[in-house]
Amino acid sequence: MSMERLRRFIAGPHETPYSVLDIGQVLTAHDRLRACLPATVQFPVKAQPDPALLAALVRRGSDLDVASPREVDLALAAGCPPERISWGNPIRTRAEIGYAHDRGVRTFVADSPQEVRRLAEHAPGSTVVIRLAHDGSGSEWPLSGRFGCDAEQAAVLALDAAGRGLVPTGLTWHVGSQQGDPGQWDTALATAAKVWVRAQEGGLNLTLLNLGGGLPGTYRRPTPDVETYAEAIVTAVHRHFGPAGLPALTVEPGRGLVADAGVTITRVKAVVTRPDGTTYVVTDAGLWNGGLVESLGGIEYRITALDHPAGAPTRAVTICGPTCDSADQLSAREPYRLPRCLTAGDRLAIWSTGAYNSTLAATAFNGLPALTQHVLPAGSTC
Ligand SMILES: Cc1ncc(COP(=O)(O)O)c(C=O)c1O
Repeated sequence: MSMERLRRFIAGPHETPYSVLDIGQVLTAHDRLRACLPATVQFPVKAQPDPALLAALVRRGSDLDVASPREVDLALAAGCPPERISWGNPIRTRAEIGYAHDRGVRTFVADSPQEVRRLAEHAPGSTVVIRLAHDGSGSEWPLSGRFGCDAEQAAVLALDAAGRGLVPTGLTWHVGSQQGDPGQWDTALATAAKVWVRAQEGGLNLTLLNLGGGLPGTYRRPTPDVETYAEAIVTAVHRHFGPAGLPALTVEPGRGLVADAGVTITRVKAVVTRPDGTTYVVTDAGLWNGGLVESLGGIEYRITALDHPAGAPTRAVTICGPTCDSADQLSAREPYRLPRCLTAGDRLAIWSTGAYNSTLAATAFNGLPALTQHVLPAGSTC
């Protein structure tokens, strides 16, 4: 979100802690991605389930990826036709599959024989996309381990799905969220190409590659721009799938579309220097009530002081949330630096908190409610 836009918003009487989400900025990021990557966007609802945002993305042409019955409902309420909804989380109960199927959802991801069997039984005739494993190397928030299968098993699952009357169309994976290395899609595509060949040998032609999520938001550690990712991905698709018969591409950017469109505003409750010399800045939005819990996995947000001039002298500080536990502290490989004169009542902006934060914010731990999210409609000046 631009500083100018934020300045206009924070001039209002809003009680901290809160976050602001700029729908217009998400749509701009969506269009920029579409301009450089020839793939259908399938926005993962979990990244930012605000109803107005989902409706705006659907109107813009984005499909939606869901992970639960509640997200099926959110997607339908946003005006997304069921045939444009994909259930990407590969583990569901029979009841959950039935719920989605009854509402017209016909695309499901699977990564195990049990799930293929369950889909055949409770979502007969549906489209199935097989999820490959990826170790999440290069990412700050991996989605490895319990998800996905290897090339051998993926081919077996696809053929088994076809044998059970499902329609296996292709493959998906997740290279890990906040993926800093555009080359990681090449590794995944190399595995996908092996499955392609094995499926063909079994008489099955796959046609779709779902590139998953992983595109980054702008946190402290720099990452390449979206055009660099798109170029690396397109080059890798051509390398592994050849110019003839290129697969259809889908992409599921969560963080990459919404993180930068959000900002969290928090107020300093106290600045405390302990005998070992560490200065703690205690704020009213922390890991739990502010939804900044991804800090535990190593995500480091950019943070600036809003009530001090940019060039004010700074000192190294440890930034903490308001609850009574040591974990409520922002991780920092390099200490944060904030103005020496920072004091109780001053406001901090925690940038790029548009993805995941609003839903991860816990309610009522330590009696502190989750922060409020304000949403700026597209085209509003504030
Ligand atoms: C299936 C699936 N697709 C897409 C995403 C979005 O990932 P990211 O925010 O890294 O783009 C996730 C995140 O958990 C996911 O589980």
